[in-house]
Formats: sequence, C-alpha cells, structure tokens
Amino acid sequence: MFDKQQKIPISCDHGGFDMKEFLRIKLEKLGYVINDMGTYSDDSVDYPDFIHPLAKAVNDGEFEAGIILCGSGNGAQMTANKYSGVRAALCWTPEQAELARKHNNANIIALPGRFISNDMAIEMALKFLNTEFEGGRHQRRVEKISKTL
Ligand code: RB5
Repeated sequence: MFDKQQKIPISCDHGGFDMKEFLRIKLEKLGYVINDMGTYSDDSVDYPDFIHPLAKAVNDGEFEAGIILCGSGNGAQMTANKYSGVRAALCWTPEQAELARKHNNANIIALPGRFISNDMAIEMALKFLNTEFEGGRHQRRVEKISKTL
C-alpha cells in the first residue's frame, strides 16, 4: 500500500507512451500525484534512457514506488532491476500485480504497453499501489534475492 499523497513516478519508451498517458491522467483523476519522467511523445527512443532515472530515484529513496512501461515490459523491467534497492515486477494480470506486492514487496511495476488493454493496466496499477507486503516468510525470501552464489 502506497500513500496517495506521495509522488508516484512513471516512465516509458515509445512502446508504452499511449498507456503511460492514459495511466497518468486516470491516476491523477483518482487523486494520485504523478511525476511524469517521460517519454513525452511516441517518437522512437531507447527505453533505458527513461527507465534508469526512475529506477535510480526509487533506489535512492526519492520515491517509494514507481510505474514503468515499454512495448513488452521486458526491457523496462530488466533495466530497473539493475538497481539493488529495486524489485521491479513485470505483470500481465491484476493477480500478478497483487502477488508482486504481497509476496515480493515489489516497488516498481513494469507493464507491457503493446500487449494489454488500458483497462487492464489501470486495474493492475491500482492493485500494485493498494496492496500491502505480507512479510513473514516472504520477507526471508525477498532478502535472499540479492544473495547470488
Ligand atoms: C521498442 O520497439 C521495444 O523494443 C521496447 O518497447 C520494449 O519492448 C523492449 O523491451
């Protein structure tokens, strides 16, 4: 669960641009304060140029949670997960978005702008923003994620 009053950053490449605009407008109407970190048109861009600044800001504690998009969601998620304090979850269904919070304490949701509907995207974004991490055995598992062999 993320407080409605704190800023939620959102960023994307051209593959996620239309959906990013939809989400920004919809979330603002619902009372969220959105920090739009681009891209700002559907001109072709490189997704890392827009995902790195958002992921770094979440990693640095500037924001508690963020939303990222690209065409498939893969490039955005891969880029964000380069930061040790980021747990970015690529989600295709509201159930995955809910579990990403409950079980994985995800602090970024990655969405595949070219493969899901806007209605599905807002449903997932709201699930992500409004679900608590369960902790307990999941806390132990999340702590093991960074313990590479
Ligand atoms: C851009 O064409 C596309 O490759 C990008 O949006 C994303 O799907 C990359 O993972």
